[in-house]
Amino acid sequence: MKPSPNFEFDDLQALLRFGSGHLTETHFMLLQIKDADAARQWLSTAPVSSATATRPPPDTSLQIAFSVDGLRTMGLQEHIIKDFSDEFITGLAGDESRSRRLGDTGANAPEHWEWGGKSGQTPHVLLMLYAQNGKMEDWKKTVETKLFKRAFKLFMTLPTTELEAKEPFGFIDGISQPKIDWAQQQSTDLHERDNYSNRLAVGEVVLGYRNEYGHYTPRPLIDPQQDIHATSLPDAEDEPAMKDFGRNGSYLVIRQLHQDVPGFWQFIDAASDADPEKREQLAASMVGRERDGTPLAPATPNHIPGIAWQNRDNHFTYELDPGGTRCPVSAHIRRSNPRTGDYPPGVSGFFSRIIKALGFGQNRPDEDLIASSRFHRLLRRGRSYGPRLTPEDAIKPDASTEPRGLQFICLVANISRQFEFVQNAWNISSKFGGVQNERDPLLGIRAPLLNGEETDHFNHPHPSGPMRTTAHLPQFITVRGGSYFFMPGLRALQYLATTPATDSDSSS
Ligand code: HEM
Repeated sequence: MKPSPNFEFDDLQALLRFGSGHLTETHFMLLQIKDADAARQWLSTAPVSSATATRPPPDTSLQIAFSVDGLRTMGLQEHIIKDFSDEFITGLAGDESRSRRLGDTGANAPEHWEWGGKSGQTPHVLLMLYAQNGKMEDWKKTVETKLFKRAFKLFMTLPTTELEAKEPFGFIDGISQPKIDWAQQQSTDLHERDNYSNRLAVGEVVLGYRNEYGHYTPRPLIDPQQDIHATSLPDAEDEPAMKDFGRNGSYLVIRQLHQDVPGFWQFIDAASDADPEKREQLAASMVGRERDGTPLAPATPNHIPGIAWQNRDNHFTYELDPGGTRCPVSAHIRRSNPRTGDYPPGVSGFFSRIIKALGFGQNRPDEDLIASSRFHRLLRRGRSYGPRLTPEDAIKPDASTEPRGLQFICLVANISRQFEFVQNAWNISSKFGGVQNERDPLLGIRAPLLNGEETDHFNHPHPSGPMRTTAHLPQFITVRGGSYFFMPGLRALQYLATTPATDSDSSS
């Protein structure tokens, strides 16, 4: 495999490399393009931030992503658009079966969303402004020029609060992230990857590079013979005669998730007989970590590539806790990333591997979480919203019910294999890792199965073995909006900025 230490960070939007935790203020705008020509002109000089590292780090950042309607309105031609993935083209709320698979039913159904749900409510552009404390107002003025105002209509400003380490339920968030293998040195060979690794192929989050299968994810490639504007785009690594519109771009999934903070803590308090210690334990078992981030799973003695030995907060797998007596199998972080290698522990030898790879030889019920984690990782970049409420205040009967939640954001190269798989097969599924009739205790919908079986339970075995069940969990998290976007590389943004006007250009 060709190592490429000189990664094209100057063509990558910053968010793919940095969480920008020092930029505590955010201003996320959903925009409609009202004048495509003005939008292209604005984009040609827009101060979009690249992933090039600077010292000191910048005190502001601007990131931009387009929905499929946004790309169309910018003038990107249909023969290019058709090579984006189907799920991006159809959209997050674009088809009923997708909504069902993602748990976007009942109170989560797109028809109730504040944005992104009904047709005509999907924004063209997601513009993300980041700034150091106190610098946002000036940054907004720099970005929102006269041309900007001519180009765009503000559809909605998404609520966000100043960055805190904790999400609204009060748990430290953003601890576990895949370590992107920018130097492209890790082998994707199945036989070398039995164990869990946190190092992830670039092509899992950035288009135009090899993914964990060693392949290039399909993306729009343009023939420069047919389109002279495309000559400034990078060459496609896998098809050098073609120009790569996707390279250094990524799909961005955003979901506005309302969190019922008083409802969460009041339920847990009642289920713990109002005992503060038991309350903390039950809440931690639902997440898989204590509120300060300490994982419930025991540290693994095996080295995990991409995680330092000393990183106690992340140096674990679930190998030493197969039954979930330390970290319940259904805990949010265990469902979201079961930290499995390509084969279950103890599988060695060619014959055994073949049997397991074909799905035979499952002796234990938990072996149904066979899906290897490395094909389903997410680079999370969300930000919370709403005023802080401590668990102690949240359990009071008059606790404030102001809107609180998470603008969940993740970046992936394959929406269906990564985000949709995690949400559907791991978080929402009522069957996971040997447990049945329960879903993710945080994210799950609580609707019964078609056969009438309840799914509103949470099983968490006692450390000494016996199963404890917390029954009748209400729904704590409700979807309020969302959309699939594409975050192009900087050269692809310039291609969009210089796309010739088409007949369809008009104010919308
Ligand atoms: C309001 C909704 C959510 C809340 C409150 C929440 C909360 C948390 C917390 C507290 C952690 C542990 C901290 C960490 O390891 O970074 C975590 C981890 C994680 N969450 Fe969520 N989350 C939410 C939504 C989601 C969604 C929608 C997904 C994916 C579809 C997701 C995927 C993950 C993943 C992949 C991890 C890291 C697991 C690991 O690698 O160990 N989360 N979340």
